[in-house]
Amino acid sequence: MIDNFKDLEKICKSCTKCDLCKTRKNVVFGIGTPKTKIMFIGEGPGEQEDIQGEPFVGRAGKLLDKLLYAVDLDRNKNIYITNIVKCRPPFNRDPSEDEQNNCIDYLRNQTKLINPKIIVCLGRIASAKIINPNIKITREHGIFVEKKGIFMMPMLHPAAILRNQNLMEAALKDFITLRKKIKEVCPEVYDN
Ligand code: URA
Repeated sequence: MIDNFKDLEKICKSCTKCDLCKTRKNVVFGIGTPKTKIMFIGEGPGEQEDIQGEPFVGRAGKLLDKLLYAVDLDRNKNIYITNIVKCRPPFNRDPSEDEQNNCIDYLRNQTKLINPKIIVCLGRIASAKIINPNIKITREHGIFVEKKGIFMMPMLHPAAILRNQNLMEAALKDFITLRKKIKEVCPEVYDN
């Protein structure tokens, strides 16, 4: 356990624990404020994220920013966004179990330092790793599960919404459920 974000980021950025380090352009550690009470966790960097070194900056990321904006959340202001794996799996394939397990200690350490009240898991891979390995995201998205005092919500991945615009209404509904929970358990997120 590293006790500060700066050192943790530095160590993570020189990681060679798995083969993804051989093909990555950048380690994508995370973006936002570690002082928040809300974490968003995706699957892993895609092409644009690998190039720019920041999570969710491609097409799916632009949609995520719009959904966040709809409920007064902002990656540069009041949330923290990261991924299960910090390096891009080639051709955007799913990260393997081994890759996820090699990387998970960075996420655990980030979570310990942030000490969030709410964790939103974007898509099946993150929801399965963090909430329930057998999760059915199409059925269970938008439903909070409490674990050790942290409220966790599986959400549809923004890339899935881009592929099927019919999911947009359900996605917006989940963000509104999220806003309600924030106001209930960590209203200070909306203070400034
Ligand atoms: N998809 C993810 O799950 N994470 C990103 O950072 C980008 C796309």
